[in-house]
Amino acid sequence: MKRLVLFAAVLLFVLGNAFYWLAPYTIAASTPHWPGVGEVLHQYMRNAVAIRSRDKEVPRQVDLDDPGLIRLGAGHFATGCATCHGAPGIARNPIPAEMMPAPPMLDGLDFTDGELWWIARHGIRYSGMPSWPGEGREVEPWAIAAFLRAYDDFDRASYEEAALGTEYAGDAIRFPGLYGAIPKDMACARCHGEDGMGREGTAPKLAGQSREWLTLVLNAYHDGSRESGFMEPLGAILTDANIDGISDMYAKMEGDWSGRPLPFGDAERGAELARKGDEHDDIASCASCHEGGDDPLMPRRADTPRIAGQDGFWLYNWLLMYRDGPVPETPRAHLMEAAAKPLSDGDIADLAAYYAGLTAGGTAAGN
Ligand code: HEC
Ligand code: HEC
Ligand code: HEC
Repeated sequence: MKRLVLFAAVLLFVLGNAFYWLAPYTIAASTPHWPGVGEVLHQYMRNAVAIRSRDKEVPRQVDLDDPGLIRLGAGHFATGCATCHGAPGIARNPIPAEMMPAPPMLDGLDFTDGELWWIARHGIRYSGMPSWPGEGREVEPWAIAAFLRAYDDFDRASYEEAALGTEYAGDAIRFPGLYGAIPKDMACARCHGEDGMGREGTAPKLAGQSREWLTLVLNAYHDGSRESGFMEPLGAILTDANIDGISDMYAKMEGDWSGRPLPFGDAERGAELARKGDEHDDIASCASCHEGGDDPLMPRRADTPRIAGQDGFWLYNWLLMYRDGPVPETPRAHLMEAAAKPLSDGDIADLAAYYAGLTAGGTAAGN
């Protein structure tokens, strides 16, 4: 008996080694699967996605029908997905089409919203389908879900308008996407707008932010010390000279900031909290840092961002980021972490409502 076990073990070892070193199973992407194997693997992928995303709920601040969110999803799709998957009315490139499995065109998808989020967030192992860059920014991939569920409503022209902006619509061929080689003149305005005002909720407003803040945060996206799946891939390819030039350009722009509100949040209570803080709950006065510069809507120090009149959606998400992580590793982010830690979800909603409505013409809560 002992001998038999020993013999089996040796045989297994020899066969295992032979398989490992002679590699009879092909890894060639050029050889198709045996009939049926591709279908079985694809169904397994669908089952795995369905099980893992079944309890996923759309967060309170996310409106999947918001045209701004859909445009952001389209814009990111042009940056990071179209190279492999093609886009509405634009055929897949023949090189990724030879991958195995090949990235499919994404029309006629029948995934739930939660499944679309899950695929964009986690990717698909052993297939080349990447997971979300911007580790921990769990809300971001919802923009992709918003775009993909509307995918079949787009034709080439409306997709280009959404992803690239009116200015560049018709230029998708010149726009190669995916990390690098993004023509400079198209890189930022397609989401932040020609005027730096964010294309009605597609991206945050930048016009008139201080040079110091813009330089600081762009460097943080560049070296990964502030996580964002949207901005890290774009920040990564910027040179120091790009960052200087771009910061200068947006700092010199002017615009009347008036933030798009969220459908919840009590601006009046937010105003109270922002000005006085709450000693009982250890909440610092936001206004002591973010208001009261030379222009009362501007922060006191140049390396602190303007938040008055920014969209409620970004304010809400950023406060969650400083409270729950991933906290940026920028020099003064710990101040914001301390300010955000004691906030409840309700406080965050009220503060976002107040600051979205805080504009030159008065505030939603009345000045
Ligand atoms: C490097 C190429 C590549 C990139 C870039 C890429 N994907 Fe994929 N994607 C794939 C491959 C390959 C598959 C097929 C996986 C499979 O069938 O198991 C896939 C599958 C998918 C699916 C499932 C489709 C279906 O019908 O089963 C979705 C949805 C998807 N990708 C969305 C995206 C989005 C959104 C992006 C950009 C954030 C993206 N992909 C970027 C390669 C890529
Ligand atoms: C695909 C859309 C998209 C493109 C293109 C884009 N951005 Fe952004 N940008 C965003 C989003 C979304 C955010 C919010 C990210 C976050 O929450 O950290 C952002 C944030 C920023 C911020 C930080 C704003 C703040 O106050 O926190 C700056 C600065 C910025 N982008 C500059 C740029 C520059 C410069 C370019 C061109 C190189 C660019 N963006 C291209 C979508 C985009
Ligand atoms: C001690 C000064 C200080 C206080 C108090 C403070 N902040 Fe900040 N805030 C900052 C700094 C500095 C940053 C930039 C941090 C970084 O580098 O990531 C910031 C960033 C932010 C951002 C992100 C803006 C953007 O454009 O990315 C928001 C939103 C914000 N603060 C809201 C608030 C609110 C609401 C409060 C009150 C609860 C508050 N802050 C209290 C200094 C402060």
